Amino acid sequence: MSIKVNEQEKVFHLQTPDSSYIFRVYGKSRLLHLYYGKKINDHAHLEDSLRWFGAGGASIDAEFAHLGSKSVSFDILPQEYGFFGSPDLRKPAFHAQYADGSRITCPVYEGYRITPSKPRLEGLPSVYTENDSECDTLEIFMKDEVTGLRLTYLYSVFNDRDVITRTVIAHNEGKQNIDIKAIMSLMIDFKDDDFDLIHLEGNWARERHVERVPLSRMGANVYSRRGLSAHDHSPFLALARKNADEEHGDVYGFSFVYSGNFEAGVESDRYNQARVYMGINSFDFNWRLEPGQSFTAPEAVAVFSSKGLGGMSRTFHKLYKSRLCRGKFRDKVERPVLINNWEGTRFAFTEEKILDMAKIAKRVGVELFVLDDGWFGKRDEADSSLGDWYPHKEKLPDGVAGLAKKINDLGLDFGLWFEPEMVSPDSDLYRAHPDWALHVEGRGMSQGRNQYVLDLTRKEVQDYIVKFMTENLESAPIVYVKWDYNRHLTEVGSASVPPERQAEVSHRYMLGLYSVLERLRARFPDILFEGCSGGGGRFDAGMLYYFDQYWTSDMTDVVERQFIQEGTSMVMPAITMGSHVSICPNVHIKRVSPLRARGYCAMCGQFGYELDITKCSEEELDEIAEQSVFYKSIREIIHSGEMYRVRSPKGRDGAAWEYISEDGKSVAFAVFNILAYPSNYPRRLRMTALDPDARYRLRGTDEVYDGAMLMYSGLAIQPMDDFDGQMFIFDKE
Ligand code: GLA
Repeated sequence: MSIKVNEQEKVFHLQTPDSSYIFRVYGKSRLLHLYYGKKINDHAHLEDSLRWFGAGGASIDAEFAHLGSKSVSFDILPQEYGFFGSPDLRKPAFHAQYADGSRITCPVYEGYRITPSKPRLEGLPSVYTENDSECDTLEIFMKDEVTGLRLTYLYSVFNDRDVITRTVIAHNEGKQNIDIKAIMSLMIDFKDDDFDLIHLEGNWARERHVERVPLSRMGANVYSRRGLSAHDHSPFLALARKNADEEHGDVYGFSFVYSGNFEAGVESDRYNQARVYMGINSFDFNWRLEPGQSFTAPEAVAVFSSKGLGGMSRTFHKLYKSRLCRGKFRDKVERPVLINNWEGTRFAFTEEKILDMAKIAKRVGVELFVLDDGWFGKRDEADSSLGDWYPHKEKLPDGVAGLAKKINDLGLDFGLWFEPEMVSPDSDLYRAHPDWALHVEGRGMSQGRNQYVLDLTRKEVQDYIVKFMTENLESAPIVYVKWDYNRHLTEVGSASVPPERQAEVSHRYMLGLYSVLERLRARFPDILFEGCSGGGGRFDAGMLYYFDQYWTSDMTDVVERQFIQEGTSMVMPAITMGSHVSICPNVHIKRVSPLRARGYCAMCGQFGYELDITKCSEEELDEIAEQSVFYKSIREIIHSGEMYRVRSPKGRDGAAWEYISEDGKSVAFAVFNILAYPSNYPRRLRMTALDPDARYRLRGTDEVYDGAMLMYSGLAIQPMDDFDGQMFIFDKE
């Protein structure tokens, strides 16, 4: 049992293998947070640090004011969940407006329930369990007597992982409407703010760069207001103790299982205490709860690691690849080596050209051909036809089915690109249903990449997407779908939502999308789905519930990719990271780098090619053929086991990533260089997490190495040229 309750003192102690999370009922009714961190045995004396708190200018909570007590200002004491309308004037986790115009929420503790396992969240993606022994769930029931608002806090505590998932369900048991203006899924008050903050910032083609900054009194906030989790910030942040590095020290990681507008941040208060929060962005959000209605906030996942950032990442990787990803591909580490024609041809392809590419791709060991944008309607540029999902007759005279068959005849599987959530103004769909795009009557409609966003809050639009996807996927032997999404939400409004609910549209959009994806996943369990959003936008935990893998970035340059894949690996496992080799000079950044380095970097994810293979020289084709064979021999090591970030690319030396297979018997060690040194000499790079008493043979050679030596002295790396890379495979003897 991972949840212990001290009935007398009303203390809840949530325990994972290495962490404790403790809170208690305070006074008659409030919940005080006592501790989150490395596992402890007992809650005694945790409150000693709270007692000195005189009011010090802070307001005394109404419930306690009559006692004349100066020791119970909720502005100071660590709360389990903060409400607007009390003297706790820090950022509230919950803020609502009631029918009389008041905004005070003051719920009291009513009780709790513990159940084995973990409930699924209706209509939302969430981490799941496969048997009851994996975790227990604590529900805390809170009720605001004045308004009839009931809040249930859910904590699922894992027995064999340092993971606690959280969410909050609001239910209106009153007689009047309640407008929820903010409802965080997670809030944690820490007794100090002596942390560094780690988050992932980016843009198109430079997604998820790691930034580590000291937490200051200014606090920190990562967010999206773009309608999707977007490139700018990921719905993730971590707090690390100052001495924490990749493999040592305490780190708290928070990941949001949601793909729309989010906010996550830390407020550092006047007593230098840190409040962490994570939830749907309260910006432009209002959710009306009529009497009897409920609202479930999306899930937030908290991970504690006493083994640094690497420990945190490995906990996320294991959890997400086995208990968030679903379906038959979840455990399939041997996914196909693919080739995608986008960078090779853009819109300018013919069936003949595609078949020429496929023939050569087959020769060099590629297993799946993916036809990208431009195969439908009259799409010859990014300016028409989204919504008209029938074959472009001039490019595909025998349709998608005809092409797929010809590709199959060459011995390759076939996959297809869609951008289902979009509509082009120049499309039959838009001409027939102009009101199906998100818009506000009487206002102009902004275009992004010459397109509008379909109004997924509408059932008929959801049905339309399911229908055309089903028709297409049934019309041809399609084994893979690339689901793209290439703009942000503007003029957020829906003709089908009443005026008082318009501020629900962004979230309703996500619920509509999740419902569509759920239906399609259920209908096509054998299709491999890869998500995409202008490269790696919207690559979040919410999407991994529906997509087996995700296109990490349109940037395939080997240097930039090291930063992108390093940041992505903070939370996402390699098995989910689409990663391709493209041509040189790189189309976006013009850098020239060795093909072998581009190959090794792409092999640290779901491997493939993104180029016009008909233009490759014979030498390049030979190298590609070798890469395919090599990747197939190591993909199980990369995707089944654990990843260690041995060196960050942030210096002149490039990244070094180590992958240890699930059985611990094989190790892949990818080492990259950024800039060469003059008069260079071999440098030693210490590996990690090996068996010090074992001997490891370097695959393909007779060289045998002592495990301890590889870890404590290191592997000698011969000097490399600019932007080069190597991969070493060791097998335990
Ligand atoms: C986005 C994707 C690309 C490609 C194009 C097609 O930019 O990130 O990989 O699919 O769309 O238009």
